[in-house]
Amino acid sequence: MTGTSLLSTRNLTKKFGAFTANKDVNVDFQRGKLTAIIGPNGAGKSTFFNMVSGGFPPTSGEILFDGKNIVGLKQHQFAKIGISKSFQITNLFPALSVLENVRVAVQSLHSTYDLWTPRSKHLEWVERAESLLELVGLQDRRTESAGNLAHGEQRSLEIALALACDPKLLLLDEPTAGMSPEETRMIMNLILKLLEHRTIGLVEHKMKLIMGVSDSIIVLHQGQLLAQGTPDDIRANEEVKRVYLGKGNH
Ligand SMILES: Nc1ncnc2c1ncn2[C@@H]1O[C@H](COP(=O)(O)OP(=O)(O)O)[C@@H](O)[C@H]1O
Ligand SMILES: [Mg+2]
Repeated sequence: MTGTSLLSTRNLTKKFGAFTANKDVNVDFQRGKLTAIIGPNGAGKSTFFNMVSGGFPPTSGEILFDGKNIVGLKQHQFAKIGISKSFQITNLFPALSVLENVRVAVQSLHSTYDLWTPRSKHLEWVERAESLLELVGLQDRRTESAGNLAHGEQRSLEIALALACDPKLLLLDEPTAGMSPEETRMIMNLILKLLEHRTIGLVEHKMKLIMGVSDSIIVLHQGQLLAQGTPDDIRANEEVKRVYLGKGNH
């Protein structure tokens, strides 16, 4: 299994004071595949994503990326090695144009930026930003202020920001939350397109959708791993049915 894993965790644990949000989580994200994480609210899904994207350190356990333990790296180093999590809407600059938002994200990856940075570099960044907008389908909206975008478009813009560092592993935490069915379809099509060149981790509540697109599904419950398997494995798992699927979450 680990031979084709891009990322895997070994006994990954996170405590907030006396509360354990993730306990001994052992999971795998296979290269080029879409791995979904499901589980009731408070199951520890976002905590897990925050740890494996460098948002905060685990209390104990290991995160293996390309076979190496990356626990202890700084957040910006996670972007450098190729792990990126979708930004929250609050990280957009609403008064800046869509293109400027992406350009700033691309530029911020270059720590050497200063007044003497040649103009050709700026053009390179703008070109890179343009190509990311094209990828997420926002090229026609590039001069619009980010604050004027529809909800679905803002989420697409966040994905463009997360792609600025050209990640090998893209993590999306509920990218379709609050979306209309049409916007949801649009984002899912985008995710499948991005999967052609990347490994993707996705937290999502829409069960029909998850069952249809995932290669592998991780089920968390009260911070612990209940199961990881194919959609068919998960559908047939009695314990998963009991604690999650049986409760009208689909
Ligand atoms: N920074 C934090 N400090 C204290 N408790 C937290 C923190 N972040 C999350 N938690 C708690 O950890 C549990 C799991 O949260 P979370 O990972 O956000 O769950 P999910 O994303 O599955 O809904 C929740 O009970 C939440 O209140
Ligand atoms: Mg969450």
